[in-house]
Amino acid sequence: MRRTVTEIRSMKAKGKRITVLTAYDASMARLLSECGVDILLVGDSLGMVMLGYDSTVPVTMEEMLHHAKAVRRGAPESFIVGDMPYGSYHTGVRDAVINGLRFIKEAGCDAVKLEGGLAMCETVRALVAAGVPVMAHIGLTPQTASQLGGYKVQGKGIEEARRLLAEAKGLEEAGAFGIVIECVPSKLAKVLSASLAMPTIGIGAGVDCDGQVLVIHDMLGMFEKFTPKFVKKYADLAPLMKAAIKQYDEEVRAGVYPGTEHGFAGEGDYLELLSQ
Ligand code: KIV
Repeated sequence: MRRTVTEIRSMKAKGKRITVLTAYDASMARLLSECGVDILLVGDSLGMVMLGYDSTVPVTMEEMLHHAKAVRRGAPESFIVGDMPYGSYHTGVRDAVINGLRFIKEAGCDAVKLEGGLAMCETVRALVAAGVPVMAHIGLTPQTASQLGGYKVQGKGIEEARRLLAEAKGLEEAGAFGIVIECVPSKLAKVLSASLAMPTIGIGAGVDCDGQVLVIHDMLGMFEKFTPKFVKKYADLAPLMKAAIKQYDEEVRAGVYPGTEHGFAGEGDYLELLSQ
C-alpha cells in the first residue's frame, strides 16, 4: 500500500526515521521500492548524474516528467516526490501550480519538492490549496548555489541560523509537509528538527534530522566526477561496472562471447543455404 502524506508526517511523531533516496528510472525505482525505502525522490540532480549537465539549472519540466513517469512505472506502490526544476516555479504562483499539478496528474507523483525560503511561502500555500503536497528545501539550495557563494555549508553563524529557522517555520506554516535541509551544521539541524512538527530530511545535516536523503549514484559509487563530504559510499560500483564492461569488450573482440550456451538451436546447420 502506498504511503500517504499523513503517514510520512506521523513517522516523526512516532520517532521512526524516514529513508529517502533519489531515483530516475524504472529499474532503480523497483530496487528501492523492494528494499522498503520510504520516499523516492525524482531529484533534479538527474541533470548531473543522468543527463551530463554541469548543474541542476538547465533541467526542464519535460525532462523531469519523463523520468518521474518512469519511476512511477517501476515503483507503483512507492511514495514519489517530483523535484520542481529551476524556472518551473519562479515566474509566478500560477505557473508553479500548473507545473506542480503536472507532476501529480501526468507523472503520478504523490508530492513535489521546491527550493527556497520565505519567498516561496506564497507558492507553497497555493500548491497545497490546489491539492499538491509540498516538500520544502532550505540550506544549500543547488538551483541558486551561485547566489549562496557556491556549494558550501549554510547557517554557520547565529544570524544565518536564525534566518534558516524563520524560513523553516514559515514554510511549515504555509503548509509544507516536510523539509529537506541541505548542508547545515549538524547542531543547527538538530535544533531545526526539534522546532518543527513536520519531518526534516537531512543531507549533509547530521544524524538528528528525522530522515536522510542521498543521491543514489553517490551512495552506490556510480558517479565519479566528485563526491561530497557528507556522502557515505555504501558500494563502489563504478570500478565493478568498468571491469564488467571491459571483460565484455575483450570477450566480444576475442570471439569468446557469446558462448554456445547463450545461443539457440534450430532444425539443422543451414549450410545448404550457402550454395543458394
Ligand atoms: O535533486 C536532488 O537530488 C535533491 C536532493 C539531493 C535533496 O534535491
